[in-house]
Amino acid sequence: MSTNRTFTMIKPDAVEKGHTGAILNKINASGFRIVSMKMTQMSKRDAEMFYEVHKDRPFFGELVSFMSRGPIVAAILEKENAVDDFRTLIGATNPEEAAEGTLRKQFATSMGENAVHGSDSDENATIEGDFHFSGREIY
Ligand code: RTP
Ligand code: MG
Repeated sequence: MSTNRTFTMIKPDAVEKGHTGAILNKINASGFRIVSMKMTQMSKRDAEMFYEVHKDRPFFGELVSFMSRGPIVAAILEKENAVDDFRTLIGATNPEEAAEGTLRKQFATSMGENAVHGSDSDENATIEGDFHFSGREIY
C-alpha cells in the first residue's frame, strides 16, 4: 500500500550554493506538503549506512565523502503518488540527461554532485525517513 510519502535531502552542493530556498519553493509549488524537515550533517558513518546498497560500487567512497562534507536539508514530503512524482520532479541522476524544468537540470553540476536525493520506492521512503526523523518530528 502506498504511504503517499517520500523522503528527500537537499545535498551539500546545493546547500553550499544557497539553493535551499529555491528548491523548497519548487517542491511546494509542485504540490508536496512538508511533513518533517531539518538541517543536519551526516557523519561518514551515517552516509555509509544511508547509501549501503551502493557499498560495492566504484563511486561509493566519493559518494560518502560528498554526502558528509557539509550540511544537508532532510525532509519527508507528502503527496498522492509521492515517490514517483518526486523522482520526476528531480530528474535523471546525471544532470546532463535531466529534463528541462527538473531540479537536477536547474541545480545539479555533475553525476556525483546532483543537488537532490529522492527515495526510489515506498519501502525505502519509510526506511530513509526513519533514519533521519523520530515519530515526534513528523507532522
Ligand atoms: P539518489 O539516491 O541520491 O536520489 O540518486 P539516484 O537514485 O538518482 O541515483 P543512485 O543510483 O541511487 O545513486 C546514488 C548517488 O550516487 C552517485 N552516483 N555516482 N559516478 C557515478 O557513476 C555515480 N552513480 C551514482 C550520485 O550522486 C547518485 O545520486
Ligand atoms: Mg537512489
